[in-house]
Amino acid sequence: MGFIKSGIKGLDNILKGGFKEKSSVLITGAPGTGKSILCLQYAYEGIKNNESVLFVATEEFKDSILDYAKTLGLNELLTSKNFYIIERTDTKSQIRTLTDPIKLVKQKKIKRLVFDSITFFDYLYFKNEIEYRTALLDFLAQMKEAGVTTLMTSQKNTLDIDKIKYPVQDFLFDGVIVLTRIRKGSSFERVIHITKMRGQDHSLDIFPISIGKGGIEIHNNELPFSLIEKDENSDFK
Ligand SMILES: Nc1ncnc2c1ncn2[C@@H]1O[C@H](COP(=O)(O)OP(=O)(O)O)[C@@H](O)[C@H]1O
Ligand SMILES: [Mg+2]
Repeated sequence: MGFIKSGIKGLDNILKGGFKEKSSVLITGAPGTGKSILCLQYAYEGIKNNESVLFVATEEFKDSILDYAKTLGLNELLTSKNFYIIERTDTKSQIRTLTDPIKLVKQKKIKRLVFDSITFFDYLYFKNEIEYRTALLDFLAQMKEAGVTTLMTSQKNTLDIDKIKYPVQDFLFDGVIVLTRIRKGSSFERVIHITKMRGQDHSLDIFPISIGKGGIEIHNNELPFSLIEKDENSDFK
């Protein structure tokens, strides 16, 4: 099975290839850690390669997504005919965000799908956890069958990488990537960690990342400064 380029600078390197074609990957982390930006870059990569891309935004409107892409310099997302967006709705019919993408994926021969985010989906639209998980599992299976590579995002309540909890539905995905920030003194450092990538020999390290024009860049030759202990015997304390 082949790999597809993620579109995030440095990520394919630490994934040792890229995303597996037809796989599903969860991007998870606290607010403001870069989940939506990563998704936009993933979409942008698809558009550059002339693929059809669908972006399902459960918490935002189309205009704000396109504005965001613009501020990051991902301008082709604003003009491409192959970029489809399902935006947030204010009605109870939100449940359709699971059925509408399936229709569109088949109609438009979508290759890459973003679903940002699945948080708040569970108890709002499903009677119980089992029903939610079953719907999610079914959705992911349908995407795989349609040949789609899927990225979904979800929210975590902590930045502490050792305290992050993984609910059962996180294990429905082929891969899980955590984005977070680590505090050292009075500053925070952005980092990325690949928690799981089924069938892939990925790196287990924590890598520093930065966000700027173009989106996230992973510094895969560096260690996070926030995790380096000071050498007690050093002259440079
Ligand atoms: N153009 C930009 N340049 C540098 N940093 C940015 C830019 N746009 C957003 N950011 C940073 O990225 C963070 C949000 O990333 P986002 O992907 O929206 O987070 P979330 O994980 O909540 O989806 C912001 O809080 C900000 O710190
Ligand atoms: Mg977001």
